[in-house]
Amino acid sequence: MLFGRPASLSSPPGTLIVPLSLIGTSKKELDTPILCIDLDRMEANIEKMAQLCKAHGMQWRPHEKCHKTPAIALKEIAAGAIGVTCAKVSEAEVMAAGGVTDILIANMIVGQRKWERVAALRRWADPVIACDHYAQVEPLSAICQKLGVTVRVIVEVNIGLDRVGTRPGQDTLQLAQAIDKLPGLKLAGIMGYEGHLLTIEDPKEKEGKIREAMGVLVGCRDQLLKSGLCCDIVSAGGTGSIYITVGCPGITEMQAGGGIFMDPFYRHKCGVPNLEYALTVLATVVSRPTLERAVLDSGRKTMNPDVALPVVVGLEDATIKRLSAEHCELTLGPKSQDLKIGDKVELVIGYGDFTTVLHDDFYGFRNDRLEVVWPIQGRGKIQ
Ligand SMILES: Cc1ncc(COP(=O)(O)O)c(C=O)c1O
Repeated sequence: MLFGRPASLSSPPGTLIVPLSLIGTSKKELDTPILCIDLDRMEANIEKMAQLCKAHGMQWRPHEKCHKTPAIALKEIAAGAIGVTCAKVSEAEVMAAGGVTDILIANMIVGQRKWERVAALRRWADPVIACDHYAQVEPLSAICQKLGVTVRVIVEVNIGLDRVGTRPGQDTLQLAQAIDKLPGLKLAGIMGYEGHLLTIEDPKEKEGKIREAMGVLVGCRDQLLKSGLCCDIVSAGGTGSIYITVGCPGITEMQAGGGIFMDPFYRHKCGVPNLEYALTVLATVVSRPTLERAVLDSGRKTMNPDVALPVVVGLEDATIKRLSAEHCELTLGPKSQDLKIGDKVELVIGYGDFTTVLHDDFYGFRNDRLEVVWPIQGRGKIQ
C-alpha cells in the first residue's frame, strides 16, 4: 500500500499520512483517480467568506457537510469562523474529536441512541441542535438532566423550503416556549434555510425573495424576544445565497460552507461570483477509441454528476459526453485531439457534496506540488 492510514479516526487533524518522499511530488506524477484541493485557492475562498461575514457583522458557522474534515474546519476557525454546522450527529462527533467545540447540528435528531450521543458530546464540545417538534427534544431533556449537562437548542422555522421546520408565528413561538421550560436544554434561537431560492435566475427577484424569507425568520425572532425568550442565534444562509443573506439585518450566523471549494453549481446555477474552483479530480486517459473520443479512469464512483457536470480543466474544446461507473467519456474538439493514453486530465467537480463522500482522502496541492493528504474523517458518517 502506498499510503499508510492513521491508526484511528482520532489521529490529530492535519496529520501528514503521506510518506515524506512523496511530499513535493508534482500532481501529474501521482496515480489516479485522486481528489485534489488547490490549497491556495481554498485558503483564499475561506478568507473571503470569513471576511465577508465579518464585514457584515455576522458570525460565520460554515457547513462542513462537503469537506467533513476537522483539519479544514480548523482552518476555517483560524480564519474567523466560530465553529461549524453539521448535518449529522456522527459528523459532529468527528468534528469534536478533531478539536472543534462550537457545533450546530442543523438537522432533526430522533432516537434514543442519538439523544444519548448528543448528550455525551456535551462532555467535550458545546453542540447546538435544531428541532421542529417537542417530540425531538423532550427525551433529550431527560437524558441531559440525568447526566447533569445542558445542550443548546434552536427551532428550525420553515421559511419556504417546505422540507422541515415549524410554521412561522404561533407554532414557532409555542415550541420555543416549551423548550424554554425543559430542564437540561437551553433555548438559543432559531434557524431557517433558503435552499429553495438559490437558483432563481433574475438577480433582483432572487434578492427580493431571499430578503422576504429572512424577514419571516427575523419576524419569528421578534416574537420570541417579545415573549421574553432568548434568541441569540438567528442562523441561515448557504453558498448559493451568501452574498444576499449576509446583508440581511437580524441574521446573526451564516451557514454557507461549500464555497470554500466553489463549483460550477454555485457559479452557474446560483450565480455566485468571486470564489475560485478549488476541488478537482485528477484522472488518466485509459482509452482513445476514436480521434474525437477519449475515455478517463474516473466515472460516477469517482465524481457525481447529478447536480452539475464536471468541467475539464485546460482543454477548452473537450466536453463530457457520458459517465458510467468507472469511465468518463470525453468528446474532443480539434484543439484537444492530441490527447494520448496515459495523459493526465483534471476535472473541476460539478457539485462537491456528492463527490467528496466517494473518496477516502483529500490530496492538497500548492503550485501543483503535493503538500498534504487529509483523510476525509467524516466520510460514511451518516447517522
Ligand atoms: C441546513 C443547511 N444550511 C446550509 C446549507 C448550505 O450549504 P452550502 O453552503 O455548503 O451549500 C445547506 C445545504 O444543503 C443546508 O441544508
